[in-house]
Amino acid sequence: MPVIDPARIPSDLLPVVEALCATGAEVARIIARGPLGQALGAGVGENSDGDQQKALDVLADEKFEAGLRSAGVRFYASEEQEEVLSLVPGGKYAVAADPLDGSSNIDVNVTIGTIFSVFEAKEGADESFLRPASEQVAAGYIAYGPQCLLALTFGEGTQLYVLDPETGAFALAEEKMTLPEAAKEFSINSSNRRHWTAPVLAYVEENEAGAEGAKGKNMNFRWVGSLVAETHRILTRGGTFLYPSDARAGYETGRLRMVYEVAPMAFLVEQAGGLATDGVTPILSLTAEKLHERRPFVFGSRQEVERIAELHG
Ligand code: F6P
Ligand code: MN
Repeated sequence: MPVIDPARIPSDLLPVVEALCATGAEVARIIARGPLGQALGAGVGENSDGDQQKALDVLADEKFEAGLRSAGVRFYASEEQEEVLSLVPGGKYAVAADPLDGSSNIDVNVTIGTIFSVFEAKEGADESFLRPASEQVAAGYIAYGPQCLLALTFGEGTQLYVLDPETGAFALAEEKMTLPEAAKEFSINSSNRRHWTAPVLAYVEENEAGAEGAKGKNMNFRWVGSLVAETHRILTRGGTFLYPSDARAGYETGRLRMVYEVAPMAFLVEQAGGLATDGVTPILSLTAEKLHERRPFVFGSRQEVERIAELHG
C-alpha cells in the first residue's frame, strides 16, 4: 500500500513526498505513545538560534534527514542544524524543514507539526534556499493532532490528506482547500502587547472593539502557540495570524523563520486563496538572505490581511 495516493503528486516529486509522508507517519506513532516511550519533551540542548531543543525536536530532525536522504534529496536545511546538510550529490531537490514545530506543546498533548518547503536544488547548498519564496516547487505541513493531517501544495491549490490509522497511508480529504475571505477570529500572542508597533495595536484594538467599534463585528481570539495548528485552523475556517516585529530585543523581525516556517506557510495560504505578508509586502515576493533569518508574519483571510497592510500606511 503506497503511503500516499500518487494521483495528485508530480512524478518527479513523488519520492520526496513519499519520504515526508512515511517519516511523518513514523513521527506520529512516536508522538501518539507519548510518555509510554521516551521523554519527548525533555530539554537536550540549544539550536543555532538559541532556542531550547527538546528530545522530539532532535529525533524528528534525525528521522526527516534519513528519510530525505533515502529519497535522493540533495540538500537538507533544518531549524535544528546550523548549516545546510549535503545529502545526495546530484539529487534534484533541496528541502527545508522545521521538523517539529510548536515544541512547547509536546508535553501537553496539544497539536504540534512538521513544516517543509521544497526547491529545485542549485549547485550551492546555501543558494538552493536563499532565493525568492516564489520559487518553491512544493510546501506543506504535517499536523500531529487529533488527526494526523497533511496539507500540501505544488502551486495548483492546497490539498488536504488524513493519515488513516486503519491503512497507515495518507488519504485525500480535500482536493482544494479554500480559506474564507472574511474572518471571525484573530491570533496573536497578546502578552507582547506593550512591545507592539502602533499599526499592530490599532488592528487588535479594532478587533477588541467588536460590533460596537468601527469594524462593526465581533472577533474571537485564539492562540495555540503552534504555528501548524494555527495555520490549519485558519485554512479551515478563516481568521488572521500575526507574529509581528516588536520592541523586545531579538524580535526586531518577529520570531518565525523565513525559510522553513514563513515561506512554506505563505505558499499554502495563498494557494488556498488567502494572503500572507510581512505586514505590508507579500511574503512570496521576498527573498531570504540568511538560512535562519526571521520575518514578521501576517496571514489569513484576504480582507483582514489587506486591512492590516492599510493600517501600516
Ligand atoms: O516555531 C516557533 C513557534 O513555536 C510557533 O509554532 C508558534 O507560532 C510560536 O513559536 C509561538 O511563539 P510564542 O511562544 O512567542 O507565543
Ligand atoms: Mn516552529
